[in-house]
Amino acid sequence: MKKLIIANWKMHFTVVQAVSFLQKLRDQVQITSVDIVLCAPFTALSALRYELQKGSGTFALQVRPNIVLGAQNMHAETHGAFTGEISAAMVKELAQYVLIGHSERRRHSHETEALLHKKIVAAHAVGLIPILCLSATVGEKKELVSPFVEKELEQQLKDCLTGISFANKEKLVIAYEPEGSISSVGTGAITTGNAADPRRVAHICFFIRRQLEQIFGEAVAQQIPILYGGSVTSANAKAYLQEKEINGLLVGGASLDVDEFVRIVKSV
Ligand code: PGA
Repeated sequence: MKKLIIANWKMHFTVVQAVSFLQKLRDQVQITSVDIVLCAPFTALSALRYELQKGSGTFALQVRPNIVLGAQNMHAETHGAFTGEISAAMVKELAQYVLIGHSERRRHSHETEALLHKKIVAAHAVGLIPILCLSATVGEKKELVSPFVEKELEQQLKDCLTGISFANKEKLVIAYEPEGSISSVGTGAITTGNAADPRRVAHICFFIRRQLEQIFGEAVAQQIPILYGGSVTSANAKAYLQEKEINGLLVGGASLDVDEFVRIVKSV
């Protein structure tokens, strides 16, 4: 499976900043062995899409990385009186992916597994690829895989995914992001979390794949990329990417600096 590197810009970047990032990224990355998704704020998606389309003529003869767009959230309903919300169909006009259930949304917006299930169904209905974020909130134990973490992940997977159909070639990405590992980039200050041990993450990704097999059967489960996220930097990216169970990375803070993000992409 081709490695997938996803940038989650969170609430950073104006339109101008986002487009400038994309231009630099495209200039610096000339490899095709990796798929890149930029999860940008809603406000920047349209300009980024325009920039990507514009580039496709100019860069046609060059080696170009596969860069596509993602949103960071969407509403579960198709339309209606939900002031300030964005529907799956609105996202689909501009992006191919959407983050679902990021731990910051679970925490700040009280998103439940039942809601995430609805959002996945709504995303699939318009052909969007949901990136379902799983997080272990129970304390990360020193042991390689603690039964508490397994239990929590198993429950999240069941609650979010039972009944989801893949009959029409729907796609899905899973991102495992232990809560204590996610850094917080605030106004100027970066608080780094504790990046999880790559071997431990590989074990957990293996566990997640077995769960997906139980829910969807082996053929579907094998197609689902399972990523790691949490304090990924260019210094530790390779250690995760070397593990065959880890199919890619979800990068927050380190995706805000284009040079650092390029280094991460190049460590594939
Ligand atoms: P981080 O964020 O890389 O800054 O830890 C990851 C995420 O929240 O998706």
